Formats: sequence, C-alpha cells, structure tokens
Amino acid sequence: MARTATLGIVGAGSVGQALGRLLAPKFMILVASRGRPDEAVEFIGPPARAATLEELANRSDCVVVAVPDRAVPSVAGQLAKRPPRVVVQTCGALGPSDLSPLPERGTACATFHPLQTVPDARSGVQLLPGSTFGVCGRGEEALSWCRSLAQSLGGTTLSVSEDRLPLYHAAAVFASNFAVGLVAAATCLMESAGASRAEARRALRPLMEASMENAFTMSSVQALTGPIARGDAGTVRRHLDAMDGSFGTEQALYRQLARYLLPLAIRRGLEPEAVAALQALLDGEH
Ligand SMILES: NC(=O)c1ccc[n+]([C@@H]2O[C@H](COP(=O)([O-])OP(=O)(O)OC[C@H]3O[C@@H](n4cnc5c(N)ncnc54)[C@H](OP(=O)(O)O)[C@@H]3O)[C@@H](O)[C@H]2O)c1
Repeated sequence: MARTATLGIVGAGSVGQALGRLLAPKFMILVASRGRPDEAVEFIGPPARAATLEELANRSDCVVVAVPDRAVPSVAGQLAKRPPRVVVQTCGALGPSDLSPLPERGTACATFHPLQTVPDARSGVQLLPGSTFGVCGRGEEALSWCRSLAQSLGGTTLSVSEDRLPLYHAAAVFASNFAVGLVAAATCLMESAGASRAEARRALRPLMEASMENAFTMSSVQALTGPIARGDAGTVRRHLDAMDGSFGTEQALYRQLARYLLPLAIRRGLEPEAVAALQALLDGEH
C-alpha cells in the first residue's frame, strides 16, 4: 500500500512505539524522543526513521504526542515554534487546551486516548487493535484524523467533551489500574492465609475473571454475590477483625468498597436491619 501521509510520533515509549508499529503499514512514520529513538525506530520497522522535533513538526501531516502527561505542555510549547497542521496527544485526562499555545497558533488539536492498558510496546501491539479511543477535538480536521487513526487500528472512537475528560479518565483508572490494585490486595491477603504467591494467583484468577465476566454480562445487582449481598454481618466482622493491625490499608479499602456495594445489596432486596448492621460494622462501630 502506498503511504501518502506522514505521521510524526513524539515520545518513543510504550504507547508511541506500539502505535508506530501498528500504523507503519499505512503511514510514513517519523519518531522524535528525548533519548535516542534508534531502538524505537527498529521496533516500529521500515520505513520509520528518527527525526528532530523541528523536522518532525515540518514534515508531518499529523503529530501524535505520546510523552508522560507532565511533559505534554512543554512538548506543545516546543512544537509551537513551527506549528504543525494537526497535533493529537494520548493522555486521557488532558484536552486540546492543554496543548496551548498550539490551538492559538492555528494547529488543529485533539486528545486521542487509547482506552487500553499498555505496559510495554509489545503488549500494546497485541492489545491496541480493536480498542476504543477516547476522542476530544477542536475542529473537524483533528477529529477526522482521530477517526482515521482509530479505523487504521481496527478500533472505535468515543467522543468526550473537554470538561468531562477528567471523569472519563478516572473511569479508565477504575477499570484498569484499580483492577490491578484489587489483584495485588487479594494476593497479599491470600499469601497471608498461607498460599505461595503462585498458588494465590492461580487460585484467584478464575474467580476474578468470572466476576468480571458476570459484571459485564449481567447487571451489577445480579452479578453481586458474597457477604455484603447476603447481609452476613458476622462474616464481615471476621474479615475486619482479621485485617486489624497488619493489614490496615487492605482493611480501609475493604470498608470503602463494601460501602460502595451496600446500595447494590439494597437493590437486591437486603432487609433494612441487615443493612444497618453492615453499615455500623463498616463505619467502625464493632
Ligand atoms: N501506558 C498506558 O497504558 C497508556 C494508556 C493510554 C494512554 N497513555 C498515555 O500515553 C502517554 C505515554 O505513555 P507511555 O506509557 O507510553 O509512557 P512511557 O512509556 O513512559 O514513554 C514516554 C516516552 O516519552 C519520552 N519523553 C519524555 N519526555 C519527553 C519530552 N519532553 N520530549 C520528547 N519525548 C519525551 C520518554 O523518553 P525517555 O525514555 O527518554 O524519558 C519516553 O520514550 C501518556 O500521556 C499516557 O497517559 C498511556
């Protein structure tokens, strides 16, 4: 396929490299990064090549900024010395106005956020195709680039207004990062119950995967099982007592999540007395 457009990628980390490799069949790729982008260029494959930020800004039809969130404003400032036609950036919590002064200099700006976890570039190549991409743009040209990039990745776009981006991104953190935290907390407690780490992870995985599957295929009310759903205050008390002392962080997390589940248990039909008993325990009155 003839590559008719040039895509500049700033930031040769997990997301930048994965996007570069997946999009290289369709676009001429230029890569600029803070360190040496040679390894990234090799990973992306020909005809990708390294470029200075100035050359990349001059030659690219669209620039993708995939640097750590905190570096986005300074990269935007550097690009503004020679404003590209279109710049999209991959942080889900930042919007077009965070690319200032590019919008004021006439650059069409957008957020193009992969709603996917990319722990390293190779995983990204596996996981990004077919993902949803959160999109927030100023101007049709930037939005059209976001749609075209998502389509090239076999994915779909989800439009988010700029003032709602932090909420959208917090949702992503719940679904991804906090799920990792839950596995870590469950593994820690299971190890303390006597399992090896490998045993704990092997035992917990089918439980966690089935719970996730149920949570997405049933309503939250239907999918909820366990002592909160049943109103088994005695069991909850044993859990809290067992975590007293050495597991203060896990205990605090348990209390918060259990409080969050109480309304679901009420919608399942839990009696008011059982709700009150759980509430008292969770508020520390035990
Ligand atoms: N990873 C994910 O799961 C994920 C998912 C969705 C969205 N995102 C977003 O994608 C962006 C990149 O994340 P990442 O995980 O790919 O980060 P990363 O692996 O840490 O890579 C960031 C890259 O940017 C380079 N860089 C840092 N400061 C720079 C600067 N001033 N100019 C040019 N390059 C610079 C770094 O170079 P050095 O190595 O030299 O520091 C590194 O190559 C972030 O905004 C993040 O929010 C990430």
